[in-house]
Amino acid sequence: MAPSTQKMLCLPEAGKPWKLYTEWPVPTLGPNDLLVKIVSAALNPAEWRIQEGFVGVSRLVKNWPYIGGLDGAGIVEEVGSAVTTFAKGDKVIAPGGFEQEHATFQEYNVIAAVDAAKIPENTSFDQAATLPLALSTVASGIWAHEPGSRSVNFPAPWEEGGSTKFAGKAAFIVGGAGSMGQMAIQFARLGGFSPIITTASLHNADYLKSLGTTHIVDRTLPDATILAELPKLTGGKPVVYAFDAVGSEANQELAYAAVAPGGAVVTVMPAAEAALKEKVQRDGSAKAVGVCFGDLRIPPHRKLGAELYGRLTEWLEKGLIVPNRVEVIPGGLLGIPEGCDRIKHNKVSGVKLVVHPQETE
Ligand SMILES: NC(=O)c1ccc[n+]([C@@H]2O[C@H](COP(=O)([O-])OP(=O)(O)OC[C@H]3O[C@@H](n4cnc5c(N)ncnc54)[C@H](OP(=O)(O)O)[C@@H]3O)[C@@H](O)[C@H]2O)c1
Repeated sequence: MAPSTQKMLCLPEAGKPWKLYTEWPVPTLGPNDLLVKIVSAALNPAEWRIQEGFVGVSRLVKNWPYIGGLDGAGIVEEVGSAVTTFAKGDKVIAPGGFEQEHATFQEYNVIAAVDAAKIPENTSFDQAATLPLALSTVASGIWAHEPGSRSVNFPAPWEEGGSTKFAGKAAFIVGGAGSMGQMAIQFARLGGFSPIITTASLHNADYLKSLGTTHIVDRTLPDATILAELPKLTGGKPVVYAFDAVGSEANQELAYAAVAPGGAVVTVMPAAEAALKEKVQRDGSAKAVGVCFGDLRIPPHRKLGAELYGRLTEWLEKGLIVPNRVEVIPGGLLGIPEGCDRIKHNKVSGVKLVVHPQETE
């Protein structure tokens, strides 16, 4: 039986420091839900941006105090009365969210059973916690097809043409070393793209090659130099797909410029959609524009979410996708403010920061 109260870390309001609550109510579950004891929670750039009041992401906060945590993994503590697919004690990947009950910077969260996947033997809680947001974000920009989705509508691996339509075509991932970048590389590999070129710090080269990148370009080179390298690396083949995994205007420009007319460009920054589409109108390049929104609970992503989570355990077991490398920050939830600060100042490279909420003193 779960306790009735728990520890959680929140922003009481934008601009205020993180605050630990020690007797916050444990969320209650509905018939289709799981109550998960969070063993590991991963940090994302959204958390420091919300603290600083960035409008784009702050408007997603449903209620204050804002309990952070968009990624988690843990053990099923209670099962809703209508759930037949999970049992108490199962190890699960537990997506977080902007709603207080879903957030993972707390000892327990509630998620719908359809939003969870079992963690296979070859994956630790820390590794599993790195997956949900990257998985949903990148997939939403390329594989979501339902009305209202904003993807470039590539066939997903489980759909016809999913691994053949783009076989042997060149892809370019801007910023392959981040969480989004690592997932974008792996999804491009599943789609059959080749070569897969990415910009990153060169010390991440071997690791990114192990995920499926064929060529790494030093991300500190001027854009003109990077663009001039591409045809040499593709052997003259056009780049038909570019993914901006960083989100700044400069990186969107680079991704856009790399793609040949008629190709597809996707960005992790939804607010860039209008500007990119205007560009296409102006230059008549017929490029498709897709944007990511990493919430699988919205109606346009529901079907995609069920497809992904239905396969996630098997994909991990077979090594078809690999979670991020992790660094565990000590101190439980109290380690989060320092971790957010490191992410904000670009002091994290090629690993994802995770905390263990149960170890909070
Ligand atoms: N739309 C959505 O729903 C959604 C969801 C999640 C995230 N996002 C956004 O996606 C972006 C990436 O998130 P993330 O979690 O992947 O971040 P992250 O893991 O913190 O990314 C860090 C990495 O970014 C790389 N990087 C930074 N500047 C770069 C540049 N100019 N060129 C190439 N690489 C660069 C660094 O690579 P090196 O180490 O190689 O230097 C670093 O390792 C953020 O802007 C985030 O807000 C959007």
